[in-house]
Amino acid sequence: MFGHDPRRAIVHPSAVCDPAARAATGAMVGSETRIGSGTRLAPYAVVDARSTVGSDAIIGPHAVVHRDVTIGDGVQLGSHVVVHPHTTIGAGTVVGDHAVLGKPVRLREGSAAAGRAVEGLRIGEGSTVGASAVVNAGATIGDRSIVGDQAFVRERATIGSGTVVGRGSTVDCDVTVGDRVSIQTDVYVTARSVVEDDVFLGPGAHTTNDDRMGRAPLGPDGAPDPSAIELAGATIRRGARIGGRTVLVPGVEIGEDAFVAAGAVVTRDVPPARRVMGVPARDAGEVPVQERLAGRE
Ligand SMILES: CC(C)(COP(=O)(O)OP(=O)(O)OC[C@H]1O[C@@H](n2cnc3c(N)ncnc32)[C@H](O)[C@@H]1OP(=O)(O)O)[C@@H](O)C(=O)NCCC(=O)NCCS
Repeated sequence: MFGHDPRRAIVHPSAVCDPAARAATGAMVGSETRIGSGTRLAPYAVVDARSTVGSDAIIGPHAVVHRDVTIGDGVQLGSHVVVHPHTTIGAGTVVGDHAVLGKPVRLREGSAAAGRAVEGLRIGEGSTVGASAVVNAGATIGDRSIVGDQAFVRERATIGSGTVVGRGSTVDCDVTVGDRVSIQTDVYVTARSVVEDDVFLGPGAHTTNDDRMGRAPLGPDGAPDPSAIELAGATIRRGARIGGRTVLVPGVEIGEDAFVAAGAVVTRDVPPARRVMGVPARDAGEVPVQERLAGRE
């Protein structure tokens, strides 16, 4: 698959390809691009202008690496992966088929999700991005983290190291997720939430941030003013555990080491190390000391 045939790969004369790099039939390398030793471009892989690919990387069939991208040593991009401009991918990261990295943001006019301008996506070392995952421009993902298949991470979201974002889960814009967080399948972490280190979010857990549900208050001119919508995400403190199919209403804080039982609807802040359950969630005692992270170090 990776046989070197310079007549069939199209390499711009200003590109610098290590002699030990290989580009298969139909592969294209743009101007001022650098390809390191041992790196292989599969058939019809494209690496556009001013991008850098380190050593021993694999750019899969039909993958498209746009301009001004930096790809570290040993990175593997699956088939049909698209990497948008200004993305940086750390050494050893593996990206599944059809993933889209650094996707540019387009919002409806007046969207409440508009924030400061986004920069390039940064993914740390040794991380994994699953098949068909989409990670927007302006997100940051740490080292050794996993973004599962079909997961979605939005602009200005920051995800720490050793964290898992489960299959089909969404981490919305302006969310901070710490280290060693476990976000299971089909979780929704809404915009402007904070998820501290070692938090556990069970399958289908949903946070919310808008008590007006998109109904903008009227401005002085009598017209709806979307910019006046105040979004308040959840704050989930270190080591808290949130059960499957829970709902956190806008702005609640879940205290350190707290435990929210499956199916609960949390309408009030939960103090540290308390256990709540039910709809609406009510206090159901304390979290046993041996289950708490606080004080373990
Ligand atoms: C809370 C939980 C741990 C059960 O706790 P427990 O102390 O063993 O509860 P018990 O089964 O002894 O039930 C005690 C009472 O609480 C009720 N109860 C138990 N779980 C409940 C829940 N999730 N919501 C509401 N009430 C619940 C029981 O019906 C029982 O009520 P009763 O005394 O009127 O009969 C369990 O329900 C739970 O939520 N586990 C989390 C699972 C999860 O989401 N994991 C995520 C990864 S898969």
